[in-house]
Amino acid sequence: MKGIVLAGGSATRLRPLTKVTSKQLLPVYDKPMIYYPLDTLIRAGIRDILIIVAPEYAGHFMNLLGSGKDFGAKFSYVIQDKPRGLADAFIVGEEFIDDDNVTLILGDNIFDHDFSDQIRLFKSGGMVFAKKVSDPKRFGVVEFDSEMTALSIVEKPENPVSDYAVVGLYVYENSVIEVAKNLKPSARGEIEITDLNNIYLEKGELKVEIIEGVWEDAGSFDGLLHISNIMAEKAKQQVSNKN
Ligand code: G1P
Repeated sequence: MKGIVLAGGSATRLRPLTKVTSKQLLPVYDKPMIYYPLDTLIRAGIRDILIIVAPEYAGHFMNLLGSGKDFGAKFSYVIQDKPRGLADAFIVGEEFIDDDNVTLILGDNIFDHDFSDQIRLFKSGGMVFAKKVSDPKRFGVVEFDSEMTALSIVEKPENPVSDYAVVGLYVYENSVIEVAKNLKPSARGEIEITDLNNIYLEKGELKVEIIEGVWEDAGSFDGLLHISNIMAEKAKQQVSNKN
């Protein structure tokens, strides 16, 4: 299993913060944001990791993270010239993925869930994770039947059919490269991960697992502030537990 962290994009939602640096380098309490998704992959047992970056800040990521040795992992880097959608990660990352399966994590998604068991047991098709949220409209939303079998995923629906948001960590077999290449751009001109997931779902090859615990998309001011406060609390808790 290989890992990809998608840390490209222009993050216009976080201007002016992102006028001088990349969103994924902004602080979340005492660490740059990207430390969290990297840690999620490493904790899940993934050591070979590709970091997809925008051209403007490629050097900053390399300065910060280096070869990965300090993290007990191996990091590679690739530049995404333009943000073309989340599913583009599998096209930009084709050579790196090679013949392996792959886990993609979004560089602004912060979890305390341990994915190691789920990833270790992954066999084929695709696997996504959903979490109950109070504001599903901001996300991809899963429609379930009465037995909690996933029927479809709708991207940022006006009228969400459930409170279950698809979180930004996705696991696929190697065929994802070809599936991504065949996606048609959406109305906003991007190849959508939700379209890709629906292809696996229609074939009966997508597993949707519910997760609990902390999850935040830190790509908005409120998300960034909220998760920074949670991480500050956790850090203080650890200090007081030690004393
Ligand atoms: C993306 C996905 C969405 C998913 C979300 C998780 O949205 O398109 O399906 O629920 O990440 O963070 P974005 O944050 O890029 O708008």
